[in-house]
Amino acid sequence: MEESMIHTDAVIVGSGIAGMLAAIELSKKMTVTLVSKSTCGAGNSEKAQGGIAASLDKNEQQAALHVDDTLACGGGLNAPDAVEALVKEAPHVMGRLLQYGVLFDQKEDGRFHLAKEGAHSCRRIFHAGGDATGREIMKQLRLALPVQVTMLEKVTIQDAIIENDTCIGVIGTDESGSRLTIHASYTVLATGGCGQLYSVTSNAEEATGDGYAIAWRAGAELVDMEFLQFHPTMLFAAGKGAGLLSEAIRGEGGVLLDENGTPIMKGRHELGDLAPRAVVAKAVHDTRQAGKDVFLSIRAIPDFEKKFPTITKRLRENGIEVEKGLLPVRPGAHFMMGGVAADACGTTSIPGLYAIGETACTGMHGANRLASNSLLEGAASALLLANALPVPPQQRRTRQTMLKLPATVPSFRKPSLQELKTTMDQWVGIVKDREGLRRMAEWLDSYQAFIESPYDPAADKEEIELKNMLTTAFLITHAALKRTETRGAHIRSDYPGEQPDWQAHSIVWQSHSRFPVVCSRDVKSREKEEVIL
Ligand code: SIN
Repeated sequence: MEESMIHTDAVIVGSGIAGMLAAIELSKKMTVTLVSKSTCGAGNSEKAQGGIAASLDKNEQQAALHVDDTLACGGGLNAPDAVEALVKEAPHVMGRLLQYGVLFDQKEDGRFHLAKEGAHSCRRIFHAGGDATGREIMKQLRLALPVQVTMLEKVTIQDAIIENDTCIGVIGTDESGSRLTIHASYTVLATGGCGQLYSVTSNAEEATGDGYAIAWRAGAELVDMEFLQFHPTMLFAAGKGAGLLSEAIRGEGGVLLDENGTPIMKGRHELGDLAPRAVVAKAVHDTRQAGKDVFLSIRAIPDFEKKFPTITKRLRENGIEVEKGLLPVRPGAHFMMGGVAADACGTTSIPGLYAIGETACTGMHGANRLASNSLLEGAASALLLANALPVPPQQRRTRQTMLKLPATVPSFRKPSLQELKTTMDQWVGIVKDREGLRRMAEWLDSYQAFIESPYDPAADKEEIELKNMLTTAFLITHAALKRTETRGAHIRSDYPGEQPDWQAHSIVWQSHSRFPVVCSRDVKSREKEEVIL
């Protein structure tokens, strides 16, 4: 097998908004290698329609309100220090994006057009190209990527390299199957989320939980993996999910109706169709469970096509008559609030290993993410990371563990990707219970040898992704089993309602633990201590 080796100061795995911005900023002070398993910039960020929530006023009153809305949505599980740090980074984020040429939508008088989405108390969401915010941002970031950044496309990273309990780089495979080792002082995981675990998702093909799985195998701490957000309005056409119908549509007056024309959010929440996402997703789910189809009515929205050009194009491609104004919807897997435990700058429990964007759990989102806070978090954590690096070598603590590199790996029992998705849809969907989660855990048990298998030099992209997806399914399932309450996006039919005790607890994968433990959370110190509930 061919083998090559690269030495770089920072290696960044994933090239969405977080990875790209981190690469651009870090390249001003160090050598950077940016790795994509597909093509530069492809992934969830590019698909973002809703926009970027950013409060820009100088006296910070707007920022304080943005912090309050984020905390109100997060079900008491946010880390307030992270929320504040990331929300307050918004002026820098917007400054950089404007500098890199992103043309955010403006009104005729030249002021920015600001949109409102679910659970925001005011208009603070910047859009570009109407509903093509992610595409516009990623287009400009690609143009801004300096030539001195080494861009590796179609390279699939399999594992982090841990030596003396410090991360010293990553190991992966290129398109031709050759092994590539990248040694770096700073390894940044920016691989996005895991929506591909489900049949209906807003997520890009790349969203296969890679960062969570790489970090777990490396022994990093992970937290809050039970909090997976489902988006209420995925277009459902020709028997499958056909892309996101942005919450901004409801922000402009879209209304969810059942097949009899009855508004489904009436009487469910004071914010109606703009209630927190978990509430709306559950309402769509319940209506469908009661045997009724659900539609997003756009009849009250003037100039729909002008406001939502990308969505209108997709509706037409899927044979939907936009003029009739009723769009068939289902909920779909959308965003992982949990992830690799990290502070606002991306620092994880392993020296040398950083996580930013959706891969990280900074505590920004708590149990339920406020709409359009994810592009902000991705960009803000990239800028904060770039400010924080380099760190003096003495800050990189060391302990003793070694990456095992076996000569040969036996072949393991594996499911097909479709089996995994169908099983997740069935047992770990929007509404969960002990019985379903136990069945999922048992199903995963039969693939445990594969999940826990060591680095395999012969594995190709599909095999690495499958292992990462099974691992992420395992992390979600066991975390969801442990949290015996309903909070935010974590909905248990056998434990309806929030249990006050649980607000003070997190489900944590400690270093190299096979199963998660319940820890009490000290919000101020970020210390987590195992408890028996
Ligand atoms: C949307 O446009 O509805 C998605 C935006 C988000 O998830 O933040």
